Amino acid sequence: MDQIRIIGGTSLTGTVDVGGAKNAALPILAASLLGSGDCEIEYLPQVRDVSTMIKLLQLLGVTAQGQGGTITLNAKNVQSVEAPYELVKTMRASILSLGPLLARLGEAKVSLPGGCAIGTRPVNLHLKGLEMMGADIHVEHGYIEAKASRLRGTRIDLDFPTVTGTENLIMAACLAEGTTSLHNVAREPEIGDLCAFLGKRGAKIYGVGTDTISIEGVRELHGARHRVMPDRVEAGTYLMAGAITGGDVFVRGCVTDHMGGVLKKLQETGVELTEEPDGVRICRKGILRSVDVKTLPYPGFPTDLQAQMMALMSIADGTSVLTETIFEGRFLHVPELHRMGASIEVDGPHAVIKGKPSLTGAPVMASDLRASAGLVLAGLAAEGETVISRVYHLDRGYERLEEKFGALGANIRRVREVL
Ligand code: UD1
Repeated sequence: MDQIRIIGGTSLTGTVDVGGAKNAALPILAASLLGSGDCEIEYLPQVRDVSTMIKLLQLLGVTAQGQGGTITLNAKNVQSVEAPYELVKTMRASILSLGPLLARLGEAKVSLPGGCAIGTRPVNLHLKGLEMMGADIHVEHGYIEAKASRLRGTRIDLDFPTVTGTENLIMAACLAEGTTSLHNVAREPEIGDLCAFLGKRGAKIYGVGTDTISIEGVRELHGARHRVMPDRVEAGTYLMAGAITGGDVFVRGCVTDHMGGVLKKLQETGVELTEEPDGVRICRKGILRSVDVKTLPYPGFPTDLQAQMMALMSIADGTSVLTETIFEGRFLHVPELHRMGASIEVDGPHAVIKGKPSLTGAPVMASDLRASAGLVLAGLAAEGETVISRVYHLDRGYERLEEKFGALGANIRRVREVL
C-alpha cells in the first residue's frame, strides 16, 4: 500500500489546475445507459471512482473507447442489469446505475451499498421515489431488485435533498411516461452539469438550479458530447492549502459561482482572495482567524470540505466550532489531527477547535476520501514529517495530488509502505 510523506512548513506558491469534477463525472457516466447513441465525455478526472464506474458500465455491456480524460461510451447493447456487490462495495456511487437501468431496460439489480466510514448512508429516498414512479422494488440477499415496464411521471417530495438520490430520479424521469416533478431536490452544481448533459441528449428538464425540477419524459435519449465541470472540492482543497501554508496560490479553473459558502468563510479567516476570469487566487500574509462553520446542502458549506477546514482551523487564532449536519460519523480525522498536536473536542455533531500556533508532523491514517485531504493539508503546515497511510482513499477522488502540490513547492512524495 502507498503512503504519502510530507515535510511541512513550506509556503505554497504558483498556479495549480483544477481537474474535472468526480461527482459530476460519475452521474454523467451512468447516464450513458439512457440511450443507444455515442456519448463523448471530456475532462474526466483520472481517479479511481471514475475508473470503477467505467468498469461497472462495461460489465453491463456498455462499450468504452478512449484514453486519458476523454472517453466515448455506447450503451446500445446493454446485456446485464446487475451491479454486483464487489464493485458497489468499493464505490457507493454505483447506486447511480439504478435509475438509468430501470428506466431504459425495465429492470435493475443493484447491490445495496452498506454503511461506510462516515455514516450509515441509506438509499431509502432513491427507492421511495422510484416506487412512486411505479417501480416494484424488493431488497433480497443484499440486492435491490427493481422492475417497471415503464416508469410513470408523478410528483415526488424528497424528505432531504439527497444528491445522488436527486440524480437517480432525474435520470429515471427522463424516460418515464409523462411529467415528473421533483420537490426539495439537491441544488449542487454537479446536478446542473448532469442536467446540461441530459439536455444535450434530448431530455426535457426544467427548473435546474432551483429546489423544484420537472422532467417531461421522452422515449429515448440520443448521443452527445460533454465536458465535465471543474471539481469544486478539489479547488476548495487547493485554496485551503494556500491558506494553511501562508502561501500565494492561483487555483486555475476554480469557478466562483460553484463555491457556495466556501469563499465567504475563507475571507472571514483573513486571507486575501482575488477573483480572476479563469480562477481564484489566495494569499495569506497575516495570522488566520478562527471562524465557525456548519456544513449544509448546497449552497451551504460542503461537507466534502469539512475535514480540510478543520485542519485550517487547527492553526487559526482563537476557537472555532465546526458543525457537521450531513453525515453523522464524519469526524474520523479528529483522532489523527490530535496525533499532530491539534486541540479538538467533539460533542455530537460539533467539533470545538482551539487553534494552536503550529502542528507537528506524525504518522497518521486516512479513514475516508476527504478526511485524507484534511490530513494532507495538516501535514503541509506541520513542523517536520507527516506520513499518511491508506492513501487509496485519496486516490478515489484526487488526481495526481502529490504532483500538483509538489509543483507548488511542497515537499511531498508517494512511497510504498514498508511492512
Ligand atoms: C454525495 C456526494 C458526496 C457528498 C454528499 C453530500 C457523489 C457521488 N457523492 O453523496 O461526495 O459528501 O453528496 O454532499 O456525488 N440520505 C438518506 N436517504 C437517502 C439518501 C441520503 O437518509 O436515500 C441521507 C444520508 O445518509 C446523508 C444525507 O442524506 O446523511 C446526504 O446524503 P446524500 O446527499 O445522498 O449523499 P450522496 O449522494 O451519497
